[in-house]
Formats: sequence, C-alpha cells, structure tokens
Amino acid sequence: MDYKVADLSLAEFGRKELTLAEHEMPGLMAMRERYGAQQPLKGARIAGSLHMTIQTGVLIETLVALGADVRWATCNIFSTQDHAAAAVVVGPNGTVDDPQGTPVFAWKGETLAEYWDEAEKVFDFTDESGNRVGPNMLLDDGGDITLLVHKGVEFEKAGAVPGQDTTDNEEYKEVLRVLARSLEADPQKWTNVANGIKGVTEETTTGVHRLYERFKEGSLLFPAINVNDSVTKSKFDNKYGCRHSLVDGINRATDVMLAGKTAVICGYGDVGKGSAESLRGQGAKVVITEIDPICALQAAMDGYEVKRLETVVDYADIFVTTTGNFNIIRTEHFERMKNQAIVGNIGHFDNEIDMAGLAKIPGIVKDEIKPQVHQWIFPEKDGAAGKKVIVLSEGRLLNLGNATGHPSFVMSNSFTNQVLAQIEIFTKASDYEVGVYVLPKHLDEEVARLHLDALGVELTELTKEQADYIGVDVAGPYKPEHYRY
Ligand code: NAI
Repeated sequence: MDYKVADLSLAEFGRKELTLAEHEMPGLMAMRERYGAQQPLKGARIAGSLHMTIQTGVLIETLVALGADVRWATCNIFSTQDHAAAAVVVGPNGTVDDPQGTPVFAWKGETLAEYWDEAEKVFDFTDESGNRVGPNMLLDDGGDITLLVHKGVEFEKAGAVPGQDTTDNEEYKEVLRVLARSLEADPQKWTNVANGIKGVTEETTTGVHRLYERFKEGSLLFPAINVNDSVTKSKFDNKYGCRHSLVDGINRATDVMLAGKTAVICGYGDVGKGSAESLRGQGAKVVITEIDPICALQAAMDGYEVKRLETVVDYADIFVTTTGNFNIIRTEHFERMKNQAIVGNIGHFDNEIDMAGLAKIPGIVKDEIKPQVHQWIFPEKDGAAGKKVIVLSEGRLLNLGNATGHPSFVMSNSFTNQVLAQIEIFTKASDYEVGVYVLPKHLDEEVARLHLDALGVELTELTKEQADYIGVDVAGPYKPEHYRY
C-alpha cells in the first residue's frame, strides 16, 4: 500500500481517539449498521480531499465498511492530525509493520508544493488485475481535487498547460506544475479521469460556490451533490462547530484572555454566527461587519454592534474573517491595528486576509512564536519599537490549523450527509444529469433523527389529524423546500 504520513508509530494513539470518536458519531455508526451487509459502495473508488482529522478517519472507515476503495489527501496544509492519518493507514486490523488500512497522503505542515503533489495521488487507484485506474467518485472539501480534474481537462482540450510564470499566485503555480507534469506523462490523463467519475460530493460553502459557478458557465463535467446545504450540515457544522472550535483555536494559539476584549467577526453567515457566539460566550465584546443587509440586521438584533472594519480597526483586539470572500483584511487595516492585535481566518481559503500584502510592508519582519503562530513586527516608528500583530495559521483556517477543528458529534451530522450523498450518486448515477443537487429533505431529517437519542431528545409525534391540518405526512418531511430554519 502506498501512503505518505508524518509518523506511522502514532497509529496506536490515533486508533484510541478514533474509537472515542466513534461513540460520538452516531450517524456514521448507524450508516455502518444499516448498510454494512448491503455494501452499497462496493466498486466505488473514492478519491477524497478533506481535512485529515480523527473525525474524517471515522468517515473514511465508514466508506470502507460500506464497500468502497478509498484514497485520501487533506484539503489544507495545516489541518492534518498526524495520529489520525497514521491510524487510518494502519487500519483497525493492521500493524505499523503491516499497514492494512487506507492510503492517506497528508501531514501537518505540508508545503504548497507537497500539498498539490499529494492531492494528485488520490487519483491513482489500482484495479483487481493490478491496472492503474482513476476514481469513480470524488469527495471534496473546498473543491481542490475537483479543480485539478477540470483544469486538467481544460488544458488537454486546449493542447497546452500555461507556464508557471503566467501567474503571481503561489498556489496556482503549484497547480500548473502538477498538471504540466501529469500531462507530460499522459496527455489524456484528466479526460480519462473525468470520464470515469460518476460525481462529486462537496463539503463546504466555498467548494459549493465553485461548483455552481462551473455549472452556470457550462463547464461542470459531472453531477455534484452540495452536502454543505443540507440543513444538518451548514446550520450545524458551520454554526455550532465554529462556536466550539473558534475559541479553541485562539486559546491554543495564544492563551489570551478573551473576556472584555473587543473582537471583530467579518461576515455573519452560518460560520460568522457560530464564531460570534463563541467569542461572546467568553465575555468578549463582539462587533460584526457585513455587506448583506439581512445578515447585518440579524447581527444587530442578536445584540451585536455592526460596524465597518475601518471604524473599529484601531481599537479592536481580535479580528476573525468568516466570509468565504477575499481581501477582507488588507494592508491598510494591518497598518492601523494596535500592538498585539490577533488576526485569524476561519473561512476556507487564506485569501480572506491579504497575507502577501502584509509580507510586502517595507521593513516588516515575520517571527515564529510556534508553528502556526507568528508575530509580524512592524518597523520602528518615530524612534519607538514597531508594533506586533499576531497572525494565526498564516491566514488559513485557524480552528483546524491551531486546534483540532470541530468535535465529532457535529461532524457526524456533516459526514452522515456525505455518506448518503456518496451512496446516492454512486448507486443512482443514471438518475443524475450534470448539475448541482442537494439531498432530499427526508434524508436531511433522517440525519438529524440519528443524532437525537444521544442527546436525550424526546421528539413529539404528530397525530394523523395534526399532520393533515398542516399538510404534511406523519413521517415527514415536515417543512416545505423554501423553509429556512
Ligand atoms: P455564508 O455565505 O453563510 O456567510 C458568509 C457571510 O459573509 C455572508 O453573510 C456574506 O454576506 C458575508 N460577506 C461576504 N463578503 C463580505 C465582506 N466583504 N465583508 C463582510 N461580510 C462579507 O458562508 P458560511 O457557510 O458561513 O461559510 C463561510 C466560509 O467558511 C466559507 O469559506 C466556508 O467554506 C468556510 N467554512 C469553514 C469552516 C471551518 O471549520 N473553518 C466550516 C464551514 C465553513
């Protein structure tokens, strides 16, 4: 088995944490129980790119338990939990000397070049006769492996890959390098890969956004299920997950007292709502920035101040971006921040904060306090020492870079949707034309139902008369499609 992880000897620790996580992931364990014998994913070759955490380990082993062959990379250079990666490679029945689990290509602290090299490896399956074959399913978080296939096909059609000098974007340079190399080895590689793919299931807001854009411009190559917009994903993981893991990340990174501090949350969508509550729960004074009047009004009526960044940038202590947009915190903001302000991002990509611009401020020095925590020391001003600004995870999502991301229970909701979405496309591919779909509401409700017992929830049952009165079936779905929760 091929794999690349930091240290296989961490597998025992990883296995213990995987076992603990299984208890907290009732949805995934129910999938194993319900579908284990049936093997609905038999024949599926799933290429996965999603933060290689303990929770993802339980997801991977669930997909395998349902019959799938899986290869996995991470979707972020800092988010891998090395013990989780090791445990998944070794597998429940293997040993460090004889790993029998799933090929994983991920470690914490990859370079961008390593990240894209490893991303490409999830496409290299071997069939039963030992021939190299591509995946027939993608499971993506943020859309990076979906992008590799689409860009690869685009360049094959055009008959050329542009040189790496055609872009200033360091990350895109790596994409071009990997594609150029793969096309040199096999000029039809990505077309063949794309033709074999039944579909992709996408985890997050940013990846889903990229899928709808591709569909709109007519370049999407295969059907996609938008897992993010299952209610039991975005209204739970994005919100309650971030409510848990945002302060966890800030605390592990800085251990700064949050009570009484002024914290700015840029964006009041699902992630912003959870993030704001996270900091308010610690006694911070939270200020929101928004561009959408509806979300701004929600924030105001939830009791937050809503201001422009420029209004608060001089005095706030903590800044967190949650927008999924780019260029939110820029050089002119860094210039005005006070000494020891803390800046981080919990959105998917690092371009929410203009890290490249920060690095170009004349005389600025980047000093590592510990991995994923840096102080940026500004040049002396008027004879006084320059101020320092602390940046977490180099602008990448801090809850996974500085801490361990969301806890198992909430990820069980997200990943149960992932498993259902994989089964849906893999077993019913012919029902799906190229497009972006969400799972039907009865499955969304089912995911929630699977998590009620663990919390001691008593669900009230409708009588037949009540059901008729509000026009639903006793067994659900209980809400119309347009209902917003
Ligand atoms: P969303 O679309 O619900 O919220 C984003 C909000 O930002 C919107 O309300 C939008 O109006 C606002 N916004 C956009 N541009 C802005 C600007 N210039 N200034 C202020 N506000 C602005 O998206 P959601 O689901 O909250 O996701 C946000 C990001 O977080 C995405 O990149 C997503 O992929 C990522 N994400 C990260 C997670 C993590 O664990 N770190 C978990 C789930 C999602």
